[in-house]
Amino acid sequence: MRRGERLLVLGAGYVGAKLAEVALEEGHEVVLADNWYATRREQLAPLEHRGARVETADIRSAADLDRLLDPPPARVYLLAAQASRPLAEREPDYTEETNLTGARRVAEAVAGVGGPPLVYASSLHVYGSRLAGEVGPEHPYGEQGDLAHLSKIYAELCLTLYARRHDFDLALLRLGIVYGPSAVEHERPESQTVVDRFRRLAARGEPLPLDDGGRATIGVVHVEDAARVLLAEPIRRGVSAANVAAESVTVADVAALARGELPAGRPGWTYATPYAYRHRVAEYLAP
Ligand SMILES: NC(=O)c1ccc[n+]([C@@H]2O[C@H](COP(=O)([O-])OP(=O)(O)OC[C@H]3O[C@@H](n4cnc5c(N)ncnc54)[C@H](O)[C@@H]3O)[C@@H](O)[C@H]2O)c1
Repeated sequence: MRRGERLLVLGAGYVGAKLAEVALEEGHEVVLADNWYATRREQLAPLEHRGARVETADIRSAADLDRLLDPPPARVYLLAAQASRPLAEREPDYTEETNLTGARRVAEAVAGVGGPPLVYASSLHVYGSRLAGEVGPEHPYGEQGDLAHLSKIYAELCLTLYARRHDFDLALLRLGIVYGPSAVEHERPESQTVVDRFRRLAARGEPLPLDDGGRATIGVVHVEDAARVLLAEPIRRGVSAANVAAESVTVADVAALARGELPAGRPGWTYATPYAYRHRVAEYLAP
């Protein structure tokens, strides 16, 4: 992307804040928009100070989206979501309204202004969890266990439908579990993911809870790497999909690394990815 482009980041949360930070460093103009469901506006103060424009907007509101898209930015990032599995159980309606209706309204609004390229932060969860071998973007969708992750499949397909119908470019980036520091970090345990949760627990000498012996395989990516991939994504013509995961590890491996032990290093499968990454989870977790 050319320096000095204006980027609209819908969802000023953990990943959105880091994306804004990296984009500002690279000389872009950044508008961060959020309805403050999971993030507090004050958490964005350091980024605002560095030049980001921070807006209150809800992706369920067509009027809010139209306002943000006038004039159209060079690129739109859809990172706003109800992304937490436990919260999806407590707030299923809100989860659907934001993740389904909200995603469709973003597609409509983008199409309505002639389609600046749209980047959607999806999840490796779309493939389900009974996998083998190397899992690339052509792998079919799999079974889902909660509404937050199920809604990613709907959003991917709905955004694709609008992108094809209205001829705008769409990149579906399926993120692994993101870890590392960002201007926005959530204190409530429902919104913390396993790498940072284990890092904090291990630092306090507390036990690390392992479901099913920690056999589950996950893809992981440092938040700075994720932000750089989102920013540098070339956006091919039409609709494209790719995995954003620097490494494939088991939850037991993450626990071992957090405790300063050697990981067994036998993930059940690996996620294929076309990107280069600077950070390794072993370095981050080294006590
Ligand atoms: N963090 C991860 O490990 C991870 C992994 C895979 C995929 N993802 C996806 O990446 C995206 C960003 O994740 P994140 O970790 O930054 O999550 P996050 O919860 O920190 O950020 C999402 C933001 O969306 C906002 N939001 C919620 N409802 C909204 C609405 N109706 N209108 C406007 N804003 C709204 C929240 O207040 C929050 O600030 C999400 O779609 C998430 O599912 C994240």
